[in-house]
Amino acid sequence: MRPSELGSTTSKKSWHQTFVQNGVCNRRAWLRGCFGLTLSLLGACAGLRTAAQEVPVAKRRRALRLAHITDVHVQPELGAARGLVACLHHLQSLPDPPELIVNTGDSIMDAMAADADRTRLQWDLWRKILKAECSLPVEHAIGNHDCWGLNRKRSGTTGQEPLWGKRWALEALQLEAPYRTFERAGWHFIVLDSIDPWENSYRAYLGEEQLAWLRTELQKIPKIRPVVVLSHIPIVSAAGLLENARVSEDGNLTVGRALMHLDGPAIHALLRQHGNVRLCLSGHLHMLDRVEFDAITYITTGAVSSAWWRGVHKDRFDYGYAVVDLYNDGTFHYQYHRYGWQTVPEPAPQSGKSLETEGLVHLAPAGSHSDDFC
Ligand SMILES: [Fe+2]
Repeated sequence: MRPSELGSTTSKKSWHQTFVQNGVCNRRAWLRGCFGLTLSLLGACAGLRTAAQEVPVAKRRRALRLAHITDVHVQPELGAARGLVACLHHLQSLPDPPELIVNTGDSIMDAMAADADRTRLQWDLWRKILKAECSLPVEHAIGNHDCWGLNRKRSGTTGQEPLWGKRWALEALQLEAPYRTFERAGWHFIVLDSIDPWENSYRAYLGEEQLAWLRTELQKIPKIRPVVVLSHIPIVSAAGLLENARVSEDGNLTVGRALMHLDGPAIHALLRQHGNVRLCLSGHLHMLDRVEFDAITYITTGAVSSAWWRGVHKDRFDYGYAVVDLYNDGTFHYQYHRYGWQTVPEPAPQSGKSLETEGLVHLAPAGSHSDDFC
């Protein structure tokens, strides 16, 4: 096991200082495996809370250990099914295993541009693996790739199909609604729906209705109860900025509408207003980073599938998942784990078609390779 510490609200060391391998600091591993960036914004400093302010250290105890998985992108190809099994086995076999899994979406490779047969194949695979290989409860958020037919032309959908959009994902994940709340071990969890269908694709946007719901929900949560927010797409992300922002023709720094929440400022304002939102976990970017602002920590976790099962994303964001400890005083500890997956070589294309790549949409040729879970 090679854990990568991404810090803690109570740790005095920064995450890169505590990156260890087999108990010793490994500079080469850090340089090569440096998963992300820590962006501490100066404005946050005045508002930072400490454990000592709320619960005496002697009484501080762990309330819940959870595993955060994201961007599994399971598919019959590239050994992805066996990779997901390896990940689930790894996290359940930890010496101190988690009690809960939170999954922030893109569970299947892609339904946005897939027909019904291909979408069914992927969801069947997902359900079969979760049922057979996971004994922990799982709380899901929906990712863009989980939404069927958003690209009508490539999926061959009209938008009128009963399972179009998020409905198939809701059924497959056994969810009543795409956004919701739940409580666990004295912490309040808010699951957001990041995906707003937009022009044959999507944008990262809650919309007025969900934003109003979020405002109401936050008002209902007692101020003493710490809150975790889960969303597929980051509300804010250092990686979203530093790896993807571009200077537009008008001279402004711009980030694509699908990479970070367009309504991030409005969401952050609501979260800050509550006063006890401690942690926001997301995925989507297949990179690992951390932003702290106004005493709220935003972490984007690396993907279980790394570069969609085709290698280590950007040569440094390895196949992995996170373990997060939540404490009774509202603090937390976050640690990223590789689970040791080695990329399965891609078979030579049989159809003569080149692989399709469109932004964050990476599609394998259907039926080019199968494994045990096909
Ligand atoms: Fe993804």
